Amino acid sequence: MPEGSLYRMAAADINAAVVFEKVSKSFGSHVVLNEVSLLIPKGAIMVMLGPSGTGKSVLLRCLVGLIKPDSGRILVFNEDLTRLDDQRSADRHKLFALRRRFGMLFQDGALFDDMSVGDNVAFPMRQHTKMSEPEIRARVAENLERVGLPGTERKMVSELSGGMRKRAAFARAIALRPDIVLCDEPSSGLDPVMSATLDDLILELHRTLGMTFIVISHDTAEARAIATHIGLLYQGKLQVFGEAHTVLQSSHAHVRQFFERNTQGPIKVL
Ligand SMILES: Nc1ncnc2c1ncn2[C@@H]1O[C@H](COP(=O)(O)OP(=O)(O)OP(=O)(O)O)[C@@H](O)[C@H]1O
Ligand SMILES: [Mg+2]
Repeated sequence: MPEGSLYRMAAADINAAVVFEKVSKSFGSHVVLNEVSLLIPKGAIMVMLGPSGTGKSVLLRCLVGLIKPDSGRILVFNEDLTRLDDQRSADRHKLFALRRRFGMLFQDGALFDDMSVGDNVAFPMRQHTKMSEPEIRARVAENLERVGLPGTERKMVSELSGGMRKRAAFARAIALRPDIVLCDEPSSGLDPVMSATLDDLILELHRTLGMTFIVISHDTAEARAIATHIGLLYQGKLQVFGEAHTVLQSSHAHVRQFFERNTQGPIKVL
């Protein structure tokens, strides 16, 4: 891995959407992230691979400020998130402004089951904007159309299949037209055709809305299909990070084991 100093220089790069500089996080004695450094350029689709329990969701939660790292810096559009203190009102303002630049597709979808699909997608707009109801309804309809669920506003979330839930959650994640969309395992639990449909959706949103995507996944096929950049997290360390074509051709043992679905290699099954 390049040293932190390289990232410090690169952090001034206006093309960086997100920079991690030696970010560490432990829970008690359990080191989950160990000096993770990376730079995600604006407009990238970064796929972060890694076995279960390796800290991928913790990394995303640090990025949106839900978990504070023990050390290191996280820059989002050159603003140092880790220096902002949500107890101070000036910082709180900045923190909220930064958070609004993120759309989050949670691992479990996190839709409100007792609300309609339309109300779920409208929720962030009603919470965070002064958009009028007709504007909100138009945006909800547009987003549902984009994710292939046109006219489902009145359906209850509890009536939806798993794949439909993911797509509705997507429509909500992009409601505020975020600059960065974080997707925590968008394809987990879905059949291969539905997974491929979600990958197409990411590519389509990327192409038409120009968003930066950070996608957490176990799925190497998904990485091959959509990634411009690939990272592999294991035992708290970012073992590999780089442009997708370089990583895919790399002979790095972790990468080969992961992509070749090999039980033998540095990644141990616990
Ligand atoms: N709030 C917390 N308190 C204590 N330990 C935590 C907390 N959040 C996560 N962990 C631990 O951190 C480790 C990494 O968890 P994380 O959810 O990031 O894994 P993951 O890579 O997303 O796994 P999966 O692929 O199964 O979703 C786990 O051992 C987990 O138990
Ligand atoms: Mg996870």
